[in-house]
Amino acid sequence: MKLEGKVALVTGSSQGIGQGIVLRLAEAGADVVINYRSHPEGAEETLAKVQAIGGRCHMVQCPNRQDSIKGHTIRADLGSVPEVRQLIAESIEHFGKLDILVNNAGIEKHAAFWDVTEADYDAVLNVNLKGVFFATQAFVQHLIETKRPGKIINISSVHEDLPFPNFAAYCVSKGGMKMLTRNLAVELGAFGITINNVAPGAIETPINTQLLNNPEKLGALLKNIPLSRLGQPQDVASVVAFLASADADYITGSTFFVDGGLLWNYQEQ
Ligand code: BGC
Repeated sequence: MKLEGKVALVTGSSQGIGQGIVLRLAEAGADVVINYRSHPEGAEETLAKVQAIGGRCHMVQCPNRQDSIKGHTIRADLGSVPEVRQLIAESIEHFGKLDILVNNAGIEKHAAFWDVTEADYDAVLNVNLKGVFFATQAFVQHLIETKRPGKIINISSVHEDLPFPNFAAYCVSKGGMKMLTRNLAVELGAFGITINNVAPGAIETPINTQLLNNPEKLGALLKNIPLSRLGQPQDVASVVAFLASADADYITGSTFFVDGGLLWNYQEQ
């Protein structure tokens, strides 16, 4: 139980990769805050799964732990800085502290560059970058105040490096996330706070619903993936659990790609 005694907040954890991360961290012994914006039923589902792990943990997985794993759900829109600050404050209030922040919530909007609206640009940048910036700031303030180390893990994308036509705002947000991580690795190192990115490729989650329902596009995508399959949330979650643990204490400012080889697969036909 590598994360026993730790408290983690995973933003956007009512579905997809975020839900997978919550479950993996709970399996490793962490108490978890589940955040959602518009799917309370998804957050409840995540919580029920955490409680099931807690029950098992009680009996067999972690006999040293007197209580079972705890989970708590909080509604907050990551696109709103006041709500982001409230989310961090409520998480700390509920569990007494926070040790791990996983900035997972993210959205994307499909449009040719010349058609992108200001509203869509703001929606993407606010959730994917501004929300991450200020959630991380509030978390860091808490760690510095309580003089404790901590771990920040950002769920980025292969598109922090790789162009994604028709998703310019999304790429801008993920490229920004890459530089935020590099900058903060330097600025926060002295406090024992590490920050890293996990960059998924094509993972089977609700963000990809349209793609998954389009056999032609899906077939073309699979041809680009050397491991010939889409990723699953667990593929991402296991790397997050490693980065959140003491095994990764000497790692900061790095990006870990979880993409089945997609990023480097240029081929001439
Ligand atoms: C995007 C997906 C896309 C995948 C691979 C992810 O960051 O959210 O829509 O399929 O990258 O291109």
